Amino acid sequence: MAAEGRLAGKSALVTGAGSGIGKAISVLFGREGAMVMAADINEEAASAVSAQIEDSGGEARPLRADTSNEEDVRAAIAAMVDAWGRMDILVNNAGIGGPQYSWDQVIAVNATGVFYGCLHGLEQMQKQGGGAIVNTASMAGLIGAFVPGSPGGFGYAYIAAKHGVLGLTKQFGLDGAPHNVRVNAICPGWIDTPLIAPVKEAQPMLDWAVQNTPMGRLGRPEEIAKAALFLASDDSSFMTGSYLVVDGGYTAR
Ligand SMILES: NC(=O)c1ccc[n+]([C@@H]2O[C@H](COP(=O)([O-])OP(=O)(O)OC[C@H]3O[C@@H](n4cnc5c(N)ncnc54)[C@H](O)[C@@H]3O)[C@@H](O)[C@H]2O)c1
Repeated sequence: MAAEGRLAGKSALVTGAGSGIGKAISVLFGREGAMVMAADINEEAASAVSAQIEDSGGEARPLRADTSNEEDVRAAIAAMVDAWGRMDILVNNAGIGGPQYSWDQVIAVNATGVFYGCLHGLEQMQKQGGGAIVNTASMAGLIGAFVPGSPGGFGYAYIAAKHGVLGLTKQFGLDGAPHNVRVNAICPGWIDTPLIAPVKEAQPMLDWAVQNTPMGRLGRPEEIAKAALFLASDDSSFMTGSYLVVDGGYTAR
């Protein structure tokens, strides 16, 4: 029986699929009929998400891939073509953040990794006649953060990389436009995932994040997944080189 749903018959590669936003995107895409390659540097986490999709009647495969390694990105796309003949959707979502990471580490994953995905993803999609790329940027791609007593806000590298993701989204959107390849980004606000565990553990930081979010709460990964579904599906057929802000009003202040 053919799969039903807004992504029926489409194949999707999701990076950083093992946790948080990537996991929610993978599960929703699976439910909407996509064949999902759940890719993560954490192989065990990728396998768990793939199994969860299959257990609910979807089709998925796990893959270990480090998106900051160009060969891994090429191999992930090749695995898509091997498995399903094409890659209709690519979600460049893997990302890291926090003071434990150096400038180089954050740039390597959050900016260079997205560049490799867009570059080789566009190549493949151009060859097959079309596709949709969704990049997970951040509200940190639109603004700096004024955190009292903490110069650097969300982190210099994080801010630089996420602004860079929006730049890449625009340029690859232009490059893909004549080839039926759409490239868009999502700018999430504070979302309740393991990435922000250090913020949740420090009550004053958590209070600060929530108080600065006009809707007065953290977002849920599933709320970002719905925006990713819109951008990956034909519902956004006239949208490219652009982005959706899903931040509970944070950047509207
Ligand atoms: N949580 C937030 O508040 C928030 C806000 C805005 C943007 N984002 C962005 O959303 C994306 C997902 O973050 P999250 O909050 O779900 O975090 P998370 O830590 O829950 O999940 C990130 C996943 O990416 C994987 N990963 C890390 N480095 C990788 C690499 N080099 N190659 C492949 N996989 C790798 C991790 O193993 C993990 O499974 C990131 O790009 C992040 O910057 C998050």
